[in-house]
Amino acid sequence: MGILINFVKQWIAGENLEEAIERSKKLNEKGIGVILNFLGEELKDKKSVEETVEEYFRMIDLLKKENINGYLSVKLTQLGLNIDEKYCFENLKKIAWKCFKNSKMLWIDMESSDYTQKTIDIYLKIFRLYKNVGLCIQSYLKRSENDVKRLLKKRGIIRLVKGAYKESEKVVFKKKEEINKNFLKIMKILFKRSKNYFAIATHDEKLIKEAIKLSKKYKKNFEFEMLFGVRERLKPLILKQGFKLKVYVPYGKDWIPYVLRRIREKPSYLIFAFKSIFI
Ligand code: FDA
Repeated sequence: MGILINFVKQWIAGENLEEAIERSKKLNEKGIGVILNFLGEELKDKKSVEETVEEYFRMIDLLKKENINGYLSVKLTQLGLNIDEKYCFENLKKIAWKCFKNSKMLWIDMESSDYTQKTIDIYLKIFRLYKNVGLCIQSYLKRSENDVKRLLKKRGIIRLVKGAYKESEKVVFKKKEEINKNFLKIMKILFKRSKNYFAIATHDEKLIKEAIKLSKKYKKNFEFEMLFGVRERLKPLILKQGFKLKVYVPYGKDWIPYVLRRIREKPSYLIFAFKSIFI
C-alpha cells in the first residue's frame, strides 16, 4: 500500500493546502508558476460545495500571504453545477471576485462533454463581469474549433489541452493523430487571432516545438502549462528558452478520478499500480 501512495503522490502535491503551498514555493524557486486545484468533482451536496468554496478562499489568502506566483483552477461540478446552475454561478462569482480583488487569475477546467455547453455558457457570463477568468478547451472535442472562434470574438482567455475524459466517438476524435492535428489547428487560431493571453497546456514535444515556431511569427502573450509530476525533464528546457511555464498542482484527499485520468494517459502505469496493490 505504501508503494501505491508513493505512486499516487507523483501527481498530487499533498492532502492539504499547506503542503501544496510548500510545493508551490519550490516550483517558484525554479522560475515555475503554479495553478492550484483542490481535488474534487461531481459534488452532489451543498455542504461539500460550500467547504470547497471556503477552501478556495483560503487558497487565495495563502497565495497572497506567501507571495506565491500562482493562480487557481476550479471545476464547475465542484461548485455545484450538478445541484443547480444558478447556485454554481454564484459560487464561481464569489471566487472570481476574490481573485480579482487579489490580482489572481482564475481558470475553469473543462470536464466531460456532458458539461461542455453549460461550462462555456457560464464562462461567458462570468467573463462579462471579471476579465481575470480563463477557460480550458479540449482539442479532442469535434466542436472545439468553433467554440474557440466564438470565445476569441469575445476576447476570451483560453487554455488549450488535448482532453482527458472517456468520451464517445460521436463527440470526440478518437485517434491520437486526429487529436494532435486539431490541437495544432486550434493553436494556430490562438496565435493568429487571440487578442488576449492564452495557454498551451501539453507535454507533447512536437506540439511544443510548433508553438515555439508560432511564437516567433506572432508576438503573443502566452504561456506553457504542464501537470505536476509529468515530464519533469522537459520543464527546464522550456524555461531555458525564455518561455513562461506554469504547473498545475492538484492537492486533496479526493484524488481517485484525477489519478485515473493520469493513468489512462500512460497505460504502462496500470501494471505498476496493479503490482503495488497486489504484489
Ligand atoms: P500526450 O498524452 O500525447 O502526451 C505527450 C507526452 O507526455 C507523451 O510522451 C506522454 O507519454 C507524456 N505524458 C502524458 N501524460 C503523462 C502522464 N500522466 N505521466 C507521464 N507521462 C505523460 N484535461 C481536461 O480534459 N480538462 C482540463 O481542464 C485539463 N486541464 C489541464 C491543465 C493543464 C495545465 C494540463 C497540462 C493538462 C490539463 N488537462 C486537462 C489534461 C490534458 O487534457 C491531457 O490529458 C494531458 O495533458 C496529457 O496530454 P498531452 O497533451 O500531454 O499529450
